[in-house]
Formats: sequence, structure tokens, C-alpha cells
Amino acid sequence: MTPKKKFYITTPIYYVNARPHIGHVYTTTLADIIARYHRQRGADVFFLTGTDEHGKKVADAAHDRGLTPQQFVDQIAGEFESTFERFQFTHNDFIRTTQPRHESRVQQYVKQLIDRDDIYLGEYEGWYDQGQEEYITETNARDQNYKSAVSGQPLAKVQENNYFFRLSKYQDQLAEYIQENPKFIQPEARRNEVLARINAGLNDVAISRTTEAWGVPMPTDESHSIYVWIDALFNYITTIDADDCNHYWPADVHLIGKEILWFHAVIWPAILLALDRPIYKQLYAHSFWIHEGQKMSKTLGNFIDLSKLDDYVNEFGLDSLRYYLATQGPIGTSDADFAHEKFASVYNADLANTIGNCTNRVCNMTNRYFGGILPEHGAHVKESETYNQTAKECVAQYVDAMSQFQLDAAAASALQLVRAIDGYIDKTQPFKLAKQAENMPMVGTILYNCAEALRIASLLLWPFLPIKIEQLWKQLGCQEYVDAVENQGLGDFENWTQWGQLQPGTPILQADPLFPRKK
Ligand code: MSP
Repeated sequence: MTPKKKFYITTPIYYVNARPHIGHVYTTTLADIIARYHRQRGADVFFLTGTDEHGKKVADAAHDRGLTPQQFVDQIAGEFESTFERFQFTHNDFIRTTQPRHESRVQQYVKQLIDRDDIYLGEYEGWYDQGQEEYITETNARDQNYKSAVSGQPLAKVQENNYFFRLSKYQDQLAEYIQENPKFIQPEARRNEVLARINAGLNDVAISRTTEAWGVPMPTDESHSIYVWIDALFNYITTIDADDCNHYWPADVHLIGKEILWFHAVIWPAILLALDRPIYKQLYAHSFWIHEGQKMSKTLGNFIDLSKLDDYVNEFGLDSLRYYLATQGPIGTSDADFAHEKFASVYNADLANTIGNCTNRVCNMTNRYFGGILPEHGAHVKESETYNQTAKECVAQYVDAMSQFQLDAAAASALQLVRAIDGYIDKTQPFKLAKQAENMPMVGTILYNCAEALRIASLLLWPFLPIKIEQLWKQLGCQEYVDAVENQGLGDFENWTQWGQLQPGTPILQADPLFPRKK
């Protein structure tokens, strides 16, 4: 047997100074959809998420609540874990940077970098964004009016003794790597941004702080803690540098938001070069959600927090939230608006009126005309000739879109197939044909073809709508897929999406609507 292809996908690890919100749920939903898709293709998937728990702002947040940092991070990390469980994410591990497995390996990597003379002691004088835990160059600070680009808070002027990483040494190698590997950083606009910044010149970067008591100590100098960003980036390897997991490196994709591009596209690959480890294969940086037309901020108090997300789940269902996030979200280079009216209209158009309605039509007619048993499909129906070709094309478009993380386009290909079923029904009019007994073999062919195309569309939709599609599989008698999902979703997508696999004679069940229409 050929070994299974591995696929390693990560999300950023989230700061525990804020409670989980739409941003965290968004990136993790995208990663979950991609992970499920690869499992369905039979890959050995490792999907990693977790929490970033060190740094001054976490220590400050704990202090404000009268808790020790450890008590505080345990509480918030627990909230992230239980939220992610409630959202039914299928991550294989949840890394916390305060875990001993992480801390001990971080010290080992830093020690290696010191031994290779890639780290040295120096002095930093300049700007620091405390909210983002980020050193800011003079030029950027000036461009940002000496305020944080994310929170708008004034930057702090700091003077510190730090250990530095020789980032400048890797400038040419990195620029060359990005030039030679056009898909390494995606989307294209982000790649260009990174290249421009590298070509403007890279300075060495501080990787330790003396003011950050809540952190991993430098292995050679306990008076310094490892800078929280360096500590955090290492999570992608600390987790899998265990005996049973080390075959997952290099990661296939790091999925991130655009505001943390610099660390992932420049500092992280340079560290990997310095450690003599393969560079991860791809970085994909999405944009940001805004809320009802406005940027989300603490000052405006308009964050889509867990309770708001729960309201949507209660009103529309968890799958619908996944679908909205994945298809209407800021996956490309523009920001996207999370708005109730838009949510309801996407729900009605795509889920209720298209997927739900088509499923009802097919299952109801099979029950009405064939007693709920999938009919034979031997009789010739002219309009069917190109129909299975449509299914093939939709699958090919879907696979192509998925490979480029265009989840919106992938879902659109699946919907196109569902719409083709509706179009086929409208054209062939089985409900009219069924009025005469001699037409029943043709009605059989039509309904068989509808159910078969619906089966293929359901495979494309499962990563987006796992709960509802599992319900649909039960309706269509596809027990094999239900079993596969229980076995970590492992499947045989290539074979399963070939035409002609539903067996005539299979019971087709009528059920409650998958997506009841909302007013
Ligand atoms: N701890 C760092 C990441 C370290 S990774 C080695 C961090 N954490 S964070 O809690 O601020 O999470 C940032 C990530 O959350 C973004 O990169 C993005 O994935 C997600 N989002 C946060 N707000 C968001 C939106 N408004 N919209 C979409 N995603 C956003 O940075």
C-alpha cells in the first residue's frame, strides 16, 4: 500500500488576553474546512491550533483580575478549548505555549541558534506596540503616526538590552526563495508586500526582553525571557517534534490573518533557515471581518463575541455559520462585512432555496413515485446526455479552488451542481411525465440522475456543512460516508466523486427540511 499523503495545516495560536471572538472562530473554521477536505481525500492530516499565553499584556490582564498569570491563562485557554469543541472543530492537537513540551523545545531551538552564532546580545532603542507585542521601525512608526496600526494606542518608546537574531544575514536567501517560489506566500498582493519589505533591507530583530517576566527564560541567561513572538512561532514545530509526529514537518500551510504577515513570512522562515530545517510550504494570509460596516474595536464595543456567534448558531444552525464565514468572509485581500441581513439572505438563497429545496424535491418525488426506493436508470432521457459531464466539471473546479484556498469559489462549484439538478428537473418535468404510467421508466432515470448528482454535490459540501450533509447521507443511504466520518473523515474522494455509484433499490428517506426557510 502506498503511504498516505500527509497534510499539516495550522492556525495562528491565539492570545489569551481576549476571549474568543469571530476572528479566532473564522480562521479556525477555514482551517477546519480545509482539513476535512484533505481527510476526505484520504490524507494523513494534522490540524493544529492553540493559544499564545506568554508576554506582558497577558501578565497585566491577569494582574487586573487579581489572578496569577497561570490561573488566568488556564481559564482563558480552557474557554478557547471548549469553544472550539462546541464549534466541532476537528483539530488534532491544541498547543498551549505554557505547556512543558513547548517551553523545553523552545529553549532547545534558541540554544541551537546561540551555538550557531545566529543570536547575539545588543541594545534596542525604538518603538514598541504593546498591544501587538511588536517592535516597530522608525519609518513604520512615523507612517502610523506613532500609534498602533491595530489598536490605535500610542506606541511606547523603549530602550532595552536584548538578544538579537541575525535576520539581516538571511535577507538575500529569503528574497531569492520567495522569488523562486511564487506560491509560497499567498495571495499575490501579500507576497509583493513582503518582497518589497525585504528588498528595503532587513535589520536584526530583538528576540528577548528583560521586562517580560511571564515568558520562557533564555537558556543561557535567566535575566531575559524569550520574546513572546519568537516563543509563539516555534509552536508550529514544538508540537510535532515528538516521535510519532515529526513526519508532518514541513507544514503544508500556515493560515493567518494579514496583520501577522511579517512574523510568518519573514522572521519565521529565516529562523527555519538558521536552524537548518526545511521551510514550511505555504503561507496564506486572509483579510479582516468588519461588523455591520464598521471596524470592530474595543472602544466601539462592537466585537462579534461568543454570545453574538451563539445567537447566530441558535437562529440558523452551526453549519450555516460555517457556510457564511467561509463563503462571504475576507478570504482574499478585501475585508468583509458581517451583517445580519446579509447572513439571512445568503442562508435563504444558498442553503434553504438551493440545497434544502433540491434535496426535498429529489427525496419527495422518489417517495411519491417509487415508494422511497431509488429506481433503475435504464430508460433513455435526452436531456441527461451531458448531465454527468456537468458533475465532473463541478468537481474539477471545486478541487482547483480548494487547492488555492478559494473556499468561496469551491462552495460555488458545489452549488452550481445543485442548481444543475434543479435545472434538469425543470427541463425534464418528471412530475408531468409521472402522470402517465408508460413514462415511469423515464421518471426513474431522471430521479436516479438527480439523486446521483446530489450525492456528488454532498461530498463537495461536507467540509462546509458537516452536520447537515451527514443527515443527507442518511437520507440517501450513503452509510459508507457516515462511517468514514466517524473514522476521522477519512475517505476516497477521487473514487467517490465518480458518476454512477448509488445503487438502484437503495431506500431514499423523506425527512425534515435540512434548512427551513427564514423570514
Ligand atoms: N498570538 C498571535 C499569533 C501568534 S501565531 C504564531 C496573535 N493572536 S490573536 O489572538 O491576536 O489572533 C490573531 C488572528 O486572529 C489573526 O491572524 C486572524 O487569524 C484572527 N483574527 C483576529 N481578528 C480578526 C478579524 N477581525 N477578522 C478575521 N480574522 C481575525 O496575533
